[in-house]
Amino acid sequence: MRRLLITGLVASLFVFTVLGTAFAIQILPEPTSDRTFQFLRIEETFKGSPLKVKALVPNAVIVIGSAEDPALMKQAGAIAFMLGQWAHDPGSSVERIRQNATLAPIMLDSEVTEKVISEFNLIVLGSKNRIYGKIKSRLHGKGSFIEVIRDVLVKGRDVMFVSDSKAAFYLANRRLYFKSGAYNGYFNFVKARLLIEKGDLDAAKYLLTSPNAVKGCGKPVMLAIGFKEKMPKELLKVAKKRNVLVFKELNKALTEKNANKAKEVWHRAMTTCYACHQGIDNTKKFRKFTPDRGVHSYHQNIVRSFGENCSLCHYGRTVYRGYVN
Ligand code: HEC
Ligand code: HEC
Repeated sequence: MRRLLITGLVASLFVFTVLGTAFAIQILPEPTSDRTFQFLRIEETFKGSPLKVKALVPNAVIVIGSAEDPALMKQAGAIAFMLGQWAHDPGSSVERIRQNATLAPIMLDSEVTEKVISEFNLIVLGSKNRIYGKIKSRLHGKGSFIEVIRDVLVKGRDVMFVSDSKAAFYLANRRLYFKSGAYNGYFNFVKARLLIEKGDLDAAKYLLTSPNAVKGCGKPVMLAIGFKEKMPKELLKVAKKRNVLVFKELNKALTEKNANKAKEVWHRAMTTCYACHQGIDNTKKFRKFTPDRGVHSYHQNIVRSFGENCSLCHYGRTVYRGYVN
């Protein structure tokens, strides 16, 4: 089991740096544009009802033309599903329910109004739709590609053009599948620390074993098999260290109801996140891009809802709250 998890984390790093190449998908304008695109945003959901709460909701709508290739149609559904796995909610409101609106972020090109264009980024699939004509002159990709064009239909809104079913397959089954797992892992890792602080060690331990919580980051396991040999040794080492800390030592401390030990192990695990993402502790910075700060900052909402302070976790090696570079 542990072996699988180790492979899993590494998968996320390696597969996703080279997968574009493995799939022969061109990503433009930068090779990480599919990673930094703003797919989600923090917004109130269940609006107009007493359940109103801040959540991660889609910031992008998938658009497809009705005459499009069925293989691409199928991937449109896959993209919406994976986006749904990552978001907390489709951004529902009493008003939208009264309008009998589709809640999932997917539309035919004929349904895309000016209001939609001003409120959302668009993920445009294929060329048989009304948006394509408006963005065509700005596209440079060849073959199967994903290209992000900024400020194209209105200022401040981006369009991600996905050329065909192969590029759409990559977006749904590799990129977004990874994001949902990585972020569920991240937020539940943070929650686990907060629960330890509150003395609820059983709930913290549950988060380590629940399929959609911390183990979410082991999701890309399946994608990894077959790639392990090609991964940098140093990266493997940090990945392994992180997994032993989280799934073995932290689990053990929680089982033994040793809160102080759990806090210490948890912080050592957090140091490994910093090692790979920000390049501390003589580790190379393995993550080559700065992720969407909006989505990442959701962890601060979790912290606030538990009534805790930043310094609970941001001290010592992880005192810096932000990006070193
Ligand atoms: C062995 C190195 C390594 C370790 C350890 C590591 N990460 Fe990562 N992480 C990466 C890399 C590399 C990426 C970018 C992958 C890619 O190219 O899409 C990433 C991406 C992510 C993402 C997705 C960001 C995005 O926008 O795509 C999240 C969330 C994340 N990591 C959370 C964590 C947390 C939380 C920890 C610590 C518990 C952690 N990671 C530990 C290397 C690591
Ligand atoms: C319960 C633990 C915990 C608390 C409390 C906490 N953080 Fe974090 N924070 C983390 C972890 C874990 C990471 C590493 C995530 C990564 O590397 O992707 C992180 C990373 C960050 C980052 C850099 C990556 C990002 O999310 O943009 C910023 C900025 C940040 N924290 C701000 C804050 C602020 C501001 C507060 C107080 C409101 C806070 N954090 C409270 C756990 C915590």
